[in-house]
Amino acid sequence: MAQLQVTAAASSYRDASRYENERKGVFGRSWLFMAHVSELAHEGDVVTATIAGFPLLVVRTKDGLKAFHNVCRHRAGPLFDEARGNCGAVLTCKYHGWAYALDGRLKSARDFGAAAGFDPRQFSLFDVRVETWRGFVFVNADKDAPALAALLAPLDARMGGRDLDRLVHSDRRTHDIACNWKLYVENYLEGYHIPLVHPALNAEVDASKYAVTVEGGVCFHHAPPRATDGVYDGLWAFVQPHLGVNVYGHGLMMERMVPLGLGATRLVYDYYLTPEIAGDPVARHRIIATSAVVTAEDKWICERVQTNIEAGIYEAGVLSPRHEAGVAWFQRLVAEALNK
Ligand code: FES
Ligand SMILES: [Fe+2]
Repeated sequence: MAQLQVTAAASSYRDASRYENERKGVFGRSWLFMAHVSELAHEGDVVTATIAGFPLLVVRTKDGLKAFHNVCRHRAGPLFDEARGNCGAVLTCKYHGWAYALDGRLKSARDFGAAAGFDPRQFSLFDVRVETWRGFVFVNADKDAPALAALLAPLDARMGGRDLDRLVHSDRRTHDIACNWKLYVENYLEGYHIPLVHPALNAEVDASKYAVTVEGGVCFHHAPPRATDGVYDGLWAFVQPHLGVNVYGHGLMMERMVPLGLGATRLVYDYYLTPEIAGDPVARHRIIATSAVVTAEDKWICERVQTNIEAGIYEAGVLSPRHEAGVAWFQRLVAEALNK
């Protein structure tokens, strides 16, 4: 018989100091998904994202991809202000116009004036690591983190011969949830709530056979579909610390659970589909509508839980050995990251 597993403390969802530690200890040291290479096809193409308060940027240079904090070395202005686009030959700060070569070197400090001791070589952009997996681009601010391939090896093994190179970014949807990011992740990591929270989904999949398997930094889900129309059939994986990789026959959806603050989370759903499905509005609509219904139900329950946690009545609970092994795994990973 398994040992009774206690949940993380309620304070971890409502303490500002804890959130600040997670920003640095978890998100400052993890591989964070940014884009597919098809979004960075041409020199000067840029993708940005702010994740747990870290403004990040990836740019295509003539020598491959480079990634930086989207923070100017002059007075911290932004270098690129859209989610994606093309910056041309240089990244020009939006504040006073300092211009950086795509490899991060400061090329010109516009109209700065002569200053003794000012050496532009000391003002290169803050760089971060960038690596790709099957065409998907990730960044990591930690120079010592293990390679991306090591993190994703369990997922890679399950992907088999699936060809992801043809996929194109077809749609993005965002959903703002008034809860701590970990509550949403933990909700994603168990199927225990499906019969109560997701009646339509429960009719489609056999929630009693919902299985969660942990392999390294990846947690796999499987729920056998009751019918075989393909909507819910596929590979669902969660990659620590905050990425759902939802793979279907027609492509996949990258689901980032992005902390905006202590009690605010933005879900960012990026759909990467085969060109045939991407060009079929009916099929696209069906895929997007299916995830929107489930998300609205999860938003409702996670926001109610956040309110209850903030009430101060509940300090900790227990985890089902049958259904909540993924939650236990995630809570352990976060705790370990903060103890490093
Ligand atoms: S902050 Fe970037 S040029 Fe001033
Ligand atoms: Fe759910």
